[in-house]
Amino acid sequence: MNYLSSKKILLIICGGIAAYKSLEIIRLLKKRGVIIKTILTKRGAEFVTPLSITSLSQSKVYQDLFSVENEAEMDHISLSRWADLILIAPATANTISKLANGNADDLASTVALASNKKIFVAPAMNVRMWDHQSTRENISKLKTYSYKLIGPEIGDMACGEYGEGKMLEPKNILDEIEKYFKNLRKNNKLKAIVTAGPTNEHIDPVRFITNKSSGKQGYEIAKSLSKKGFDTTLISGPTKLEINDEINLINVETTEEMFKATLNSLPTDVAIFSAAVGDYKVKKKSERKIKKQNKLNLELEKNVDILNYVSNHNSLRPRLVVGFAAETDNLENNAINKLNEKNCDWIVANDVSNKKIGFNSDFNEVSIFYKDNKIEKLKYKPKSEISDELVDKIINHLN
Ligand code: CTP
Repeated sequence: MNYLSSKKILLIICGGIAAYKSLEIIRLLKKRGVIIKTILTKRGAEFVTPLSITSLSQSKVYQDLFSVENEAEMDHISLSRWADLILIAPATANTISKLANGNADDLASTVALASNKKIFVAPAMNVRMWDHQSTRENISKLKTYSYKLIGPEIGDMACGEYGEGKMLEPKNILDEIEKYFKNLRKNNKLKAIVTAGPTNEHIDPVRFITNKSSGKQGYEIAKSLSKKGFDTTLISGPTKLEINDEINLINVETTEEMFKATLNSLPTDVAIFSAAVGDYKVKKKSERKIKKQNKLNLELEKNVDILNYVSNHNSLRPRLVVGFAAETDNLENNAINKLNEKNCDWIVANDVSNKKIGFNSDFNEVSIFYKDNKIEKLKYKPKSEISDELVDKIINHLN
C-alpha cells in the first residue's frame, strides 16, 4: 500500500552541502505520487538551483519572504496550511537555531513558525557543530515543540571529518515519512480520551482548593495521540496551556465536571487519566464569600474516583485504561497498589519530589507498571517524547 500517494509535502531546502540530496528526495517523493512545493533558502540556492528543483518537482520554488508575486499567489500562512507535512532537509545548525528561538526572518523560518502541521527536521552539519552545546540545547527545544527529528547519522562528511551529523539518506527519510502517514491511516478510527491538569474544588465564590499540576504531560499525550491519527478528546482542568483545534478540548473546573465530561465522551478505545484530580471537595460550599474569623473548619468529603469508576464499569470501560501515579515516596509499591485497586491496565508513575521532572517541568522520567508485573522505565526526556513513546506502546497494544 502506498501511504504517500497524493500527500502534499512542503520541502524546505537550507544551505548545506547535503542540499544536493534534496533533489533525490524530490525524485523519490514524486515517484510515490506526492505533490511537492519547495522553499529554497538564500543559502540553499548556493548549493542547488531553482531550475533543477522545478524540473524534478514540476512545481514552483518559493524563495524569499517578500516576493510580491509569490505572496499574491500563496502567502506564508497558506503555504503551511496547504501541506500535509513539512520536511526540512537539510536542516542546518543555523536554521535549527532559528526554529528553536522562534525567529522568522525568511520564508522558511516564517512558514515553520506559522505552521500547524507536523514538521520533520533532517539535520545535516559538521560533527563539532552537531555536538556543540548550543545545538544540543536547540535540538532539545525543538523536541519539546513537537518537531520530529530524523537523523542525523554517523559517517564520513563532505568536509572530510567523520562523526555524527550526516543527513539521513533520502530513502530513509522517505521511510520515516511513510511511517507517519501509515500510523495516521491505521489509527484514524480509534478514539481516545485524556484527562489532564488539576481540578478546583470550591470553598466559596472566590476560593478553591487545587494542586500544582501543570497539565503538560497530559496535553503532550493528547497531541501525540492526535498526530498518530486518534480521534482525541482532552478533558482539561484549569491550565495555562493551549492545544491545536484537531483535538476536541473540553474545559472543566471541578472533579464533578471532569467526571461528567468523561462519561459523556465514552465509549472510546483508550482512556488515559493523567489529571491530578482533587481527592476531596468541600461538603458545604458557601454561596457567599466567607468572612475572616478566628477559626475556620472546612468539612471535606471524598470526590468520585473517575479512573476507578470507568475501569470498573462493565459497558463503558475502554479496551485500554491507563492511570497515572504521581508519588513522592514508595513509588513502586504505590504504583502497583493503584494498578490493582483501580483495576487499570497500566499505571504510569513518576516521582514528583524530583525537581527536574516534577510539576511544571517540560521533562519527565516515568515507569510504566503493567498487569503482568512487568515494569518499563522511560528515561529522562522531554514530556513530548515520553508521550510519543507511550502512544507507540498504546498503538502496539490496541493493534
Ligand atoms: N484519579 C481519578 N479520580 C480521582 C482521583 C484520582 O481519576 N478522584 C486518577 C488520576 O487521574 C490518576 C490516578 O487516579 O490516574 C491516581 O491518582 P492519584 O492522585 O495518584 O491517586 P489517588 O487515588 O488519589 O491516591 P493518593 O492521592 O492517595 O496517592
